[in-house]
Amino acid sequence: MAKQITRGKGNGTGAKQRVPGERLAKVQGSALWTSIFRPGSIFRKGYTDSPRNRSYVIMNSVLFHLHPVKVKRHAVKVSYTLCLGGLSFFLFIHLTVTGIFLMFFYRPTAAQAWNDISSLQTSVTFGLLVRNMHRWAAHLMVLSVFLHMARVFYHGAYKPPREFNWVIGIILLTLTLLLSFTGYLLPWDQLALWAVTVGTNMMGYTPVFGSQVRFVLLGGAEIGTDTLLRWYVLHVLMFPFFIVIFMAIHFWRVRKDGGISGPL
Ligand code: HEM
Repeated sequence: MAKQITRGKGNGTGAKQRVPGERLAKVQGSALWTSIFRPGSIFRKGYTDSPRNRSYVIMNSVLFHLHPVKVKRHAVKVSYTLCLGGLSFFLFIHLTVTGIFLMFFYRPTAAQAWNDISSLQTSVTFGLLVRNMHRWAAHLMVLSVFLHMARVFYHGAYKPPREFNWVIGIILLTLTLLLSFTGYLLPWDQLALWAVTVGTNMMGYTPVFGSQVRFVLLGGAEIGTDTLLRWYVLHVLMFPFFIVIFMAIHFWRVRKDGGISGPL
């Protein structure tokens, strides 16, 4: 047990006098406290504002450590990136959350899909709101990814050493468009049916394998429940799975290439 610290000769009553801040110092020295407040935290005993401690704050935080320890002053200006990459990522997270909500009320069969969407809007609490949030966020994500790409282009940020990340970006753009297109089919209304008819007919003109490509995309010879199920799985599982992997590579590359703080 820690030894009680006393000062002077006591107060004459036999009770030991506590040194001010002694209890706080004891708590700050405990294993629980030091496991939560890592080295460099201002809540650690004896904290000093030094470059080393400032670096620790970044390195020891789950969120901050994604950033470099030091960035150039111009790099933290919002006017530089317009936060378009971050905005695209935020919209993706938003789409995932609202999409999970929609999945509770939607069955991907030709007989039920349209009715499910219709009753989602009229009978489910916040159903119409969440559906519209999902739809608007999808449109906005296409726009923000495109604007982000334009920002990267006009800053010449696609040049070495970032050329690999530009290619990853193209894959992300393609996946974003594919997510948008596959989602369009799910309400199973006239717009959806004709979009899929046009889309799959176009892909049917692929050289050599045209009819096979069309067959795979339709899940049969013509549009039906199998088509809907196929595009539903692509929309809620396969494309999100790939986009998350490529986003991870993208963010890793931003960090490794020196991010926007590196020389341009
Ligand atoms: C899902 C789509 C995307 C997400 C979530 C995303 C996210 C981000 C983020 C957060 C950054 C760092 C900050 C910033 O520059 O805004 C970034 C940088 C970058 N992105 Fe994207 N991005 C996406 C699509 C694209 C596309 C379509 C391209 C180009 C074809 C692209 C190319 C780049 C490049 C080259 C950088 C480094 C820029 C620099 O260091 O100045 N990204 N991205």
